Amino acid sequence: MGGSGQCPSPFPRPSLLLAQLGALWGPCLPCAAPAPCSALAQALADLKGRTENIPCVVGGEEVWTGAVRYQLSPFNHAHKVAKFCYADKDLINKAINAALAARKEWDLKPVQDRAQIFLKAADMLSGPRRAEVLAKTMVGQGKTVIQAEIDAAAELIDFFRFNAKYALELESSQPISVDISTNSMVYRGLEGFVAAVSPFNFTAIGGNLAGAPALMGNVVLWKPSDTALLSSYAVYRILLEAGLPPNVIQFVPADGPVFGDAVTSNQHFCGLNFTGSVPTFKRLWKQVAENLDCYRNFPRLAGECGGKNFHLVHSSADVSSVVNGTLRSAFEYGGQKCSACSRLYAPDSLWPQIKEKLLEETKKIKVGDPAQDFGTFFSAVIDDKSFARIKKWIEHAKKSPNLTILAGGGCDDSVGYFIEPCIVESKDPKDPIMKEEIFGPILTVYVYPEKQYKDVLELIDTTTPYGLTGAVFAQEKSIIEEARSYLRNSAGNFYINDKSTGAVVAQQPFGGSRISGTNDKPGGPHYILRWTSPQAIKETHVPLRDWRYAYMH
Ligand SMILES: *[C@@H]1O[C@H](CO)[C@@H](O)[C@H](O)[C@H]1NC(C)=O
Ligand SMILES: *[C@@H]1O[C@H](CO)[C@@H](O)[C@H](O)[C@H]1NC(C)=O
Ligand SMILES: *[C@@H]1O[C@H](CO)[C@@H](O)[C@H](O)[C@H]1NC(C)=O
Ligand SMILES: *[C@@H]1O[C@H](CO)[C@@H](O)[C@H](O)[C@H]1NC(C)=O
Repeated sequence: MGGSGQCPSPFPRPSLLLAQLGALWGPCLPCAAPAPCSALAQALADLKGRTENIPCVVGGEEVWTGAVRYQLSPFNHAHKVAKFCYADKDLINKAINAALAARKEWDLKPVQDRAQIFLKAADMLSGPRRAEVLAKTMVGQGKTVIQAEIDAAAELIDFFRFNAKYALELESSQPISVDISTNSMVYRGLEGFVAAVSPFNFTAIGGNLAGAPALMGNVVLWKPSDTALLSSYAVYRILLEAGLPPNVIQFVPADGPVFGDAVTSNQHFCGLNFTGSVPTFKRLWKQVAENLDCYRNFPRLAGECGGKNFHLVHSSADVSSVVNGTLRSAFEYGGQKCSACSRLYAPDSLWPQIKEKLLEETKKIKVGDPAQDFGTFFSAVIDDKSFARIKKWIEHAKKSPNLTILAGGGCDDSVGYFIEPCIVESKDPKDPIMKEEIFGPILTVYVYPEKQYKDVLELIDTTTPYGLTGAVFAQEKSIIEEARSYLRNSAGNFYINDKSTGAVVAQQPFGGSRISGTNDKPGGPHYILRWTSPQAIKETHVPLRDWRYAYMH
């Protein structure tokens, strides 16, 4: 790492990043101006007070409609970071037609050529464009430098590179041939267009959500999140500059329902890759079901919808891992990750110790402007809607007799949408705050009688309808084994003595089942198969001289 020899680079190679976090970011920030850091400082300065104009990109052209919108910086909502517009129904239909026209040629392009474009984009992201995308993710989505780095740089680069690798491997995975005939498999893109709907919380998800199907020969309409326009558009431009032909991916910010209606009512709709809320995903799925008779193919539906993730602490757990892992998992990026820990189950024997440390460390958490102060642990939540929703949970905690606020409880939206890290203790393990996704910096703790450990396993499994991530902290092997088997269906990503967040591409392919989603595991080798419609071809080399079989003579 840091081959330049000047300053230990704060920008290590992507996959290595997570392993090195602690070591890297402690001493280096705020940095003594090595090249990459000053590039970031420069990129942040460039965005100051600036509003970028972001058009729709349809049919190879930049298009503006009258429905103008703004993306605000979460920690300084007076700053409009982007001015953009919503595509209307006609423009979305125009995009669909342009996509379909581009499809044949793109799908016929050898996968090696398609992969080249994504590898080039990955190189641009890891080099010359890194600072720009980081800064746009920080200012537009309220990420700290480290959260922006693991997302907009590391994860996106990994997605592009690993998916390219997996696509090439898939191509070489071929059926058996025999003397008289040759068999082969052609990995075609889906016939039609794919709709990609991306969330605000990961720049990487946006890029990959649109990028992975394109890599596999599909054409894509990408609806980015209103609150991640700035970084999404930067990634889109990079893909175009890396050589992505026009109309393979079109950039169509739009009102959610308008977009959903337009794409699901088109006969050529063949796939949806979605990340967002459960109700929206269900709504789209139902629309697809209703329109089933009009489609030329059964559409592929992939969705990731969040979680209510747990940390289960056994009395044999290492307290430091519990405390520090929980702080990171619950509060990094203000809890706005689908994998964030939001329910902690602690045994009464260990609770006093955990509580003391948890509260002591929480006091040290700095919430602020991540572009000004690199000591910020997390920043404001994404927008006014999120702020209002989270505030309601805090009010619920204040007035419910079963709930006690142990830390935080303050919020202030005068400058940005700031919410203090909040820790709540619940006497009732089935209070709504233990069941529903909050998507903010609130951690709820349920303290269980140590002897009733088995009941807690059941509570964890049955309290919520989600099944995304979870962790068990214990040092006794048999306890770990028991938790693994009992909680087999409670989490698609299960952690042992580690926090519930931080999945790395190609190391922990990500996703959950139950209402958390379709668990297709992006970041794993099988994922890309979802976006192909393979064709098996048999070619026979020996002429057929008889229609009868030997036994008939
Ligand atoms: C689907 O969405 C996930 C994020 O939930 C993303 O990582 C993945 O690349 C997307 N897949 C496709 C094919 O768009
Ligand atoms: C957690 O991390 C802090 C520093 O960030 C450290 O001082 C402390 O010892 C760790 N463990 C606990 C239990 O707080
Ligand atoms: C991102 O946010 C959306 C909500 O907008 C949520 O459904 C999704 O699970 C989140 N994904 C990740 C990877 O955090
Ligand atoms: C408090 O918790 C108990 C169960 O522990 C439950 O029966 C009761 O309804 C709860 N009260 C409120 C107001 O939610």
